[in-house]
Amino acid sequence: MSKDKLWGGRFSQPTDKFVEEFTASIDFDKRLYRQDIRGSIAHARMLGRQGIIPQTDVDAIVSGLEEILARIESGDFDFSVSLEDIHMNIEARLSAAIGEAGKRLHTGRSRNDQVAVDIRLYLREEIGEVTRYLDLLVDALLFQAEANLGVIMPGYTHLQVAQPILFSHHMLAYVEMFRRDKGRMEDCAKRLNFLPLGAGALAGTTFPIDREYVAIELEFSGPTRNSLDSVSDRDFALEFISASSILMMHLSRFSEELILWSTSEFNFIELSDSFCTGSSIMPQKKNPDVPELVRGKTGRVYGNLMALLTVMKALPLAYNKDMQEDKEPLFDTIDTVKGSLKIFAEMVREMRIKAEVMLQAAAEGFSNATDVADYLVRTGMPFREAHEVVGKSVRYCIEQGKKLEELTPAEWQGFSKQIGDDIYAAITLEASVNARSATGGTALVRVKAEIERLKKEI
Ligand code: ARG
Repeated sequence: MSKDKLWGGRFSQPTDKFVEEFTASIDFDKRLYRQDIRGSIAHARMLGRQGIIPQTDVDAIVSGLEEILARIESGDFDFSVSLEDIHMNIEARLSAAIGEAGKRLHTGRSRNDQVAVDIRLYLREEIGEVTRYLDLLVDALLFQAEANLGVIMPGYTHLQVAQPILFSHHMLAYVEMFRRDKGRMEDCAKRLNFLPLGAGALAGTTFPIDREYVAIELEFSGPTRNSLDSVSDRDFALEFISASSILMMHLSRFSEELILWSTSEFNFIELSDSFCTGSSIMPQKKNPDVPELVRGKTGRVYGNLMALLTVMKALPLAYNKDMQEDKEPLFDTIDTVKGSLKIFAEMVREMRIKAEVMLQAAAEGFSNATDVADYLVRTGMPFREAHEVVGKSVRYCIEQGKKLEELTPAEWQGFSKQIGDDIYAAITLEASVNARSATGGTALVRVKAEIERLKKEI
C-alpha cells in the first residue's frame, strides 16, 4: 500500500504487487546493512554538530540504529519487499521504533548518495579481504617454491617441451601475477576512497552540511568533488571487476596447468584428495574438480564485467534506476574471487610434487638444444649458424633414436669441428638451468635470491 511507503505522499494508487517485487533490491542489497547503518550514524552526528537537527534526536537515532544492527546480526529482523531496499527497510524500522527523530535522519540526504556511500564502504572492506587471500596464495606458492628448490621440470612454449626450468621458477611466475593483482586491488581501493554522501539526489543539499567531517568519520580520504558524478559513478565497481577478471584469468591459467599436470600423461603432481572427487561410474577416477571449477568460474566474472559495463553504457547523468543492477554482478564477483583464492591457497599448499617424473620429462624433447647452440656461440660461431648446426644434429638424433647428450665425440665432430668433450658438461639439465643466471632467469642461485627478496617484501 502506498501508505507504508516512505515516498507515498505523491501517490494515490498502491504499487502493483509484481511491480513492487520487480523493482525491489532488498533480497540482494540487505548485505549492505552494516555499511548503511554506519553511514547513517555518521550522517546523523554531522547533522547534530551542524545544528541541523537537535542533539537529542541524534542520540535517539544512534541508539535506534545500533539496536537495529544488533537485531539484524542476531537474525531478528524481517526484511520487507514492500520497503524496496536496505535503506528504506532500516529507516522505516527506525521511525517505527523512535518516532519523529527517525524521520529526521534523511535530512540533507538521498538514497542516491546513500547507496553510493554504502557500496564504497562495503567494497573497501572486501578489497581488504581479497588482498589478504592473495597474500595467502602467494605464501603457499613461496612455500612450494622453497620446499622443492632444485626440482627441474620442462619449460614449455606451444605446450611443447622447450627448455628445462626450475619448478620453483614456475611457481614464482604466478607469484608475480598475483602480486600485480594485489597492486591493482590496492589501486582500486585508493581511488574509490572518497565520500559521495552530501551529493543529495544529484545537485547537493540546501543544508549547511559538513562533508569533511563525515569523510573523516567514515575514514575516507575526503569528499568527492562533483555531486552529479558522485551519485552516478560506478567506476570503482567496474575497476574492481576488471581487476578481478584479470585475477581470475591468472587463476584459470594456473588451473589449466594443475589439471594437465594431474593427468596420467603428465603425472607431475598429485592434488590432495580433499580437492578432488571421484566418478560415479569409473572407479579409477580422481578428478581435479577444484581447478576445473575455478577455471569455469572465470567465465562468470568476465560475464559480470560485461553486465556492469553494459548497464552503465550510455546512461545519462545522474542517477538512474538501471544502476540498481550494479549490485548482483559486484557481489557475485566478490564471492567468486574470495572463494577461488581461498580454496587455491589451501590446494597449492597441499599439492604433492613428483620431482622424478618432472626431471624425466625435462630430459625429453631435446630441451638442451639451445644449450648446444649457445656452446657453439661461445666458441665464436655466429648464433644463426649454430642454430643450423644443432638443427641438423637434432634431426640426426631423431633418426637414430638418440638424445643429444648420447652422441659420441666423433658424431659431434661430424657436425662441427668446434665441439669438444666439454660439450657433455655444458648440456646437462642442471647446467642448462644454472647457466640462465641473469636477473629473471631460472638458475638456482637466481631463484633462491628471488625467494629471499619476496619473503622480505611480503
Ligand atoms: N536501491 C537503489 C539502488 O540500489 C537505491 C537508490 C534508489 N534511488 C532512487 N532514486 N530510486 O540503486
